[in-house]
Amino acid sequence: MKAIIVTDQAAGIAGMKLAEHPEPQAEINDVVVQVYASSITGDELTWPSTWVDRAGHDRVPSIPGHEMAGVVTALGYGTTGLSIGQRVFGLTDWYRNGTLAEYVAVEARNLAPLPADVDFTVGSALVMPGLTAWQGLFDHGRLRAGQTVLVHGAAGIVGSMASQLARAAGAYVIGTGRAGGRQAALDFGAHEYIDLEKEKLQDVGGVDLVFDVFGGDIAIQSAGVIKPGGKMVTIAGPTDARPVNGSTIDFVVEAIPSQLTEIVQRFREGRLRTHIGNISSLNDAVSTYNSTNRVNGKTIISVRS
Ligand SMILES: NC(=O)c1ccc[n+]([C@@H]2O[C@H](COP(=O)([O-])OP(=O)(O)OC[C@H]3O[C@@H](n4cnc5c(N)ncnc54)[C@H](OP(=O)(O)O)[C@@H]3O)[C@@H](O)[C@H]2O)c1
Repeated sequence: MKAIIVTDQAAGIAGMKLAEHPEPQAEINDVVVQVYASSITGDELTWPSTWVDRAGHDRVPSIPGHEMAGVVTALGYGTTGLSIGQRVFGLTDWYRNGTLAEYVAVEARNLAPLPADVDFTVGSALVMPGLTAWQGLFDHGRLRAGQTVLVHGAAGIVGSMASQLARAAGAYVIGTGRAGGRQAALDFGAHEYIDLEKEKLQDVGGVDLVFDVFGGDIAIQSAGVIKPGGKMVTIAGPTDARPVNGSTIDFVVEAIPSQLTEIVQRFREGRLRTHIGNISSLNDAVSTYNSTNRVNGKTIISVRS
């Protein structure tokens, strides 16, 4: 099969190559999915899971991309819950070969059915931002109606999803980013917006939750605007930022199919939008990811149409 492979951690995205790779087999409780649409998550080429297996053994050449939508073509021994020919979408194991390929083997429990009226491109674009925003706001952040949440990077891929979900949950949403992101953030549901390059984060009144995507100094400053007892959730890795008498949780998104089912239903009802910036093909994926043109929104690789 055709796949994008990486072999050199130091090279990062510049090391991606289009290559022939053996088709994966469905192991116990797996399905094999013919990939129709796929994507990578910003930093995954820096994560150890791209380069080693769970035992720490080198696993290059490695196929990146863990978000996808496609059709089940094979079932592993003992696999239940999905059937051959079924449309599915979901997040695949970080430590196994991924979805920038014509086929991927993935545990059935990582996938949800993709309704017939939802494009594969849309399904793929909902996976990572949808799950990350949901888990950050509700599983870890315990956001409730009437609370105020500060969403960093609110015009970005994850932040735009977090703003939509938080607003729908009845929260007051303060988005942040650069000046150019203001209108997009407001369109995605932020009630107000802070240009971090010109306005002071310290001027924000007390918030119940910070949804952080940046880490570093911005996370540290953000801890200071959280009400005593409030929370920070961050997807930017470990941080020393701590709200007074509150807690900080850094997490990596998990595959939770019931959340995907809820997210795609909201999309079908017109209550949630994707943030797709660019659609490319597997043949053009290497040049697309290496392009110096900055595109806002998710890049989706349409593997099969
Ligand atoms: N832990 C996890 O499970 C997980 C899951 C998904 C993503 N992530 C990570 O989360 C981060 C965000 O991902 P994303 O896909 O949402 O990225 P994105 O689409 O690039 O969004 C980031 C947004 O923040 C803005 N921004 C960036 N740096 C800024 C700064 N210094 N000051 C003000 N605004 C700034 C960007 O504006 P410009 O476009 O103008 O730069 C953009 O609007 C990435 O590092 C990604 O790898 C982690």
